[in-house]
Amino acid sequence: MDKQVHVMNHPLISHKLSIMRDKNTSVKDFRECAYEIGLLLGYEATKDLGLVDYELETPLTKMTGKKIERQVALVPILRAGLGMVDAMQDLIPAAKVGHIGLYRNEETLQPVEYYCKLPTDISERQVLVLDPMLATGGSASAAISFIKQRGAKKIKLVCIIAAPQGVEAVREAHPDVDIFCGAVDEGLNERGYIVPGLGDAGDRLFGTL
Ligand code: PRP
Ligand code: URA
Repeated sequence: MDKQVHVMNHPLISHKLSIMRDKNTSVKDFRECAYEIGLLLGYEATKDLGLVDYELETPLTKMTGKKIERQVALVPILRAGLGMVDAMQDLIPAAKVGHIGLYRNEETLQPVEYYCKLPTDISERQVLVLDPMLATGGSASAAISFIKQRGAKKIKLVCIIAAPQGVEAVREAHPDVDIFCGAVDEGLNERGYIVPGLGDAGDRLFGTL
């Protein structure tokens, strides 16, 4: 993997991800682990946010403080991307949140768009596209294309598990987009599911199994 792909090898992520992968994990525990991994991925994905100086006063003296220069937009891909929004909003409370509704056609595996509402000033924001699963990469690539059509210039993709095929597809379609993920798995099965993966992320987050 080159520098466009950041795989977070961290014991906390490995531990929490194993809980998510376990088919016997409850919806509550699955959702909590998605939140906690979201925090850790968000920490990494925001490492290069620019800062500007501003003057403030502590109880003791004046000093130069720092604030984030570029505002952030979070764009979860519905549904499963919603499972990462709370963590990112807790890290960056001023972030605006756009939504892209996409589902995979079960036969063709092609993404079908059904909703898109993005912040009007998205072109000025650092965009973090959120989706726990990067499988064939069709959904993420299509979502990033929509966001670029609306003028966004700085985009990162944050996912919990990626398949090598999905990483390659996004790299090919969007070489300017860095990918942050908790793990890169072995591959895809014949139905386009990540193996070993964690199953259907949307169903496991929302209990629709
Ligand atoms: C899942 C997942 C991604 C997509 C990944 O969504 O959350 O959006 O599949 O697959 P891809 O990389 O092959 O496009 P799904 O279509 O199951 O919709 P859901 O979130 O509404 O369950
Ligand atoms: N979508 C999921 O939710 N899981 C997969 O493994 C692949 C696509």
